Amino acid sequence: MGTYKVRVTTGNFLLAGTFSSISITLVGTHEESDKKPLDNCGKDFNPGAWIEGYRTLELREGKEYVRAHWREDTFFGYQFLNGVHPVLIRKCTELPCNFPVTPAMVAPSLGESTSLQDELEPSGELVPIAIQLLLPHTRYTLHVNVLARTLLLRRGGVFERGVGSGLEGTKVLMAKGMSCLTYASLCFPDDIQERGVDCIPNYYYRDDGLKIWSAIESFVSGIVRYYYPSDAHVLADCELQAWADEIFNQGFLGNEASGFPSSLQSIPELIKYLTMWIYCCSARHAALNNGQYDLGAWMPNFPATMRNPPPQAKGTTSLESYLDTIPEVNSTSIIIHTLWILSCELGDSRSLGTYPDEHFTAEEPKQLIAAFQGRLAQISQEIQERNKSLPIPYRYLDPHQIENSTSI
Ligand SMILES: [Fe+2]
Repeated sequence: MGTYKVRVTTGNFLLAGTFSSISITLVGTHEESDKKPLDNCGKDFNPGAWIEGYRTLELREGKEYVRAHWREDTFFGYQFLNGVHPVLIRKCTELPCNFPVTPAMVAPSLGESTSLQDELEPSGELVPIAIQLLLPHTRYTLHVNVLARTLLLRRGGVFERGVGSGLEGTKVLMAKGMSCLTYASLCFPDDIQERGVDCIPNYYYRDDGLKIWSAIESFVSGIVRYYYPSDAHVLADCELQAWADEIFNQGFLGNEASGFPSSLQSIPELIKYLTMWIYCCSARHAALNNGQYDLGAWMPNFPATMRNPPPQAKGTTSLESYLDTIPEVNSTSIIIHTLWILSCELGDSRSLGTYPDEHFTAEEPKQLIAAFQGRLAQISQEIQERNKSLPIPYRYLDPHQIENSTSI
């Protein structure tokens, strides 16, 4: 715990100062403080004025785990399951013909009891070898997309200044990602099946995600069946059909290979589509977004850029070559600042399943909302219970910590 003396000045500019509520968070190398309001009665920070005070700030739990374990293979493997990119891992039933790692290369690290071929079977731990319903789920999404374009993706923005792929490379990567994005990969149970990861152990992203998917699915099913008595009603809803058509044609450029539906033919199809929608805006985004600062604040764990190519052979690095390779301090600070903002809790956050705006006033939908909230609270309990026995608690899919919409 530390005591910090904070001094804030406005300078002498005409009209400097604000009536807005301003607060301050101190961010250190390991931890950060809670938000402290800097508040006076009336206008704050009058021109030339300053506020000064002493406060004791309690710093929250830090990122020590990453710093202590980032060099371990098990932690590296863990991040493919429960880090910020848990959607790529796939079951591999045979070694690809262009796999650049030979059995001889990995024999020393695997030991005598196993081989590359044996490692194709999952084992205990993953070790690396080489409309209305939807309105609350779109809150702030357009806004944050505009911010991402203007702050991250513009010329001179974060990607150009701090990320190895730069602006042009990022566009190539985005186009590549977009061209292979499929409907199945966004429908969680299909995605798990398709990647063959239904049995892999310690995959908390999958375990928690499946529970949340099913909670959303039963909620959506109740609402859809209440408002659409038959498949014919779904087909006859021209606004709904136009919406699905627009997503397919504008969002997915009419790419048939994506498997995205261009129309919704039946109640089950509509339920699946809306479940996918709500799941992706809330849970999927939370799982991919919220851990970025936790895992990236210790920069060597995933540097956003490097000054030399990664080493091709084990044991060829020295401290000097390593220091020559990791990014310079200024690029690191640009990235850490961005990751911190992206992982910040919003001041007015709304967690999954909260609907304070009361778009639904009829009795049955209100009961469906209450049941949905009850199920989410139960899932949250189960996750917190499970987390007690984990070295790093997996919290990104705890419903209490999932935002209703993609808002950052
Ligand atoms: Fe985001």
